[in-house]
Amino acid sequence: MRRKVIAGNWKMNMLPNETISMITELAPKVKDTKNEVILCVPYTDLFYALLTAQGTNIKIGAQNMHFEEKGAYTGEISGSMLRSIGVEYVIIGHSERRQYFGETDETVNKKVKAAFKNGLKPIVCVGETLEQRESGKAFEIITNQTQKALEGLTEDQVANTIIAYEPIWAIGTGKTATNDDANESIKKIRKKICQIYGQNVSERVIIQYGGSMKPTNAKKLLEMSDIDGGLIGGASLKVEDFSAIVNFDR
Ligand code: PGA
Repeated sequence: MRRKVIAGNWKMNMLPNETISMITELAPKVKDTKNEVILCVPYTDLFYALLTAQGTNIKIGAQNMHFEEKGAYTGEISGSMLRSIGVEYVIIGHSERRQYFGETDETVNKKVKAAFKNGLKPIVCVGETLEQRESGKAFEIITNQTQKALEGLTEDQVANTIIAYEPIWAIGTGKTATNDDANESIKKIRKKICQIYGQNVSERVIIQYGGSMKPTNAKKLLEMSDIDGGLIGGASLKVEDFSAIVNFDR
């Protein structure tokens, strides 16, 4: 049985003092869950988040990283920098980064490799636009994105990658994919991984759903056969909402 992984993506929100109070309040509310709990926070909050989460079951992730180790890349943060302070996870290829910051399948692939090289677990985002969905290309798009993101990884690395299927039209819009649609897309991604890396790998890989997941729709989504967790934006900024999603099965 795959575990459920509930990850918050704070995006560009929260100052250090808010980070400390949010995690302090959240920790006792999620301490008894058997689900994995991750918060992906802005770079400037990482250190505070790591300190506050010490001794709890909350893991900390970043929202991006550069693929190079070091050098003349003003403003960038490398995988080794993240790992050196104790970060465990990193979101790679979020649709907002693809859309606004020129992230491509190629840079995503380089970043995923660099993440593993530095002992970070990548949460790789894939997802189609509304236009792509309406023209019947969604499955092709998301399976291609997945294949390209994972290119050159070992089977074990693929099995340890978390994939977040996030239909772009559902992010921050209040629109969620139906439970069946989300499950169907995730099945297609798993099938592609099975074709390339075999069934053992495809049955181990965690594939989350993301896009307007909230306490009112989380349980139904998370109970679907192939949805192994959620990547949660807006609802991860409120202790009540995020803890309710983490505790969907309690
Ligand atoms: P949302 O964001 O939950 O606010 O739709 C999800 C995401 O972008 O990861």
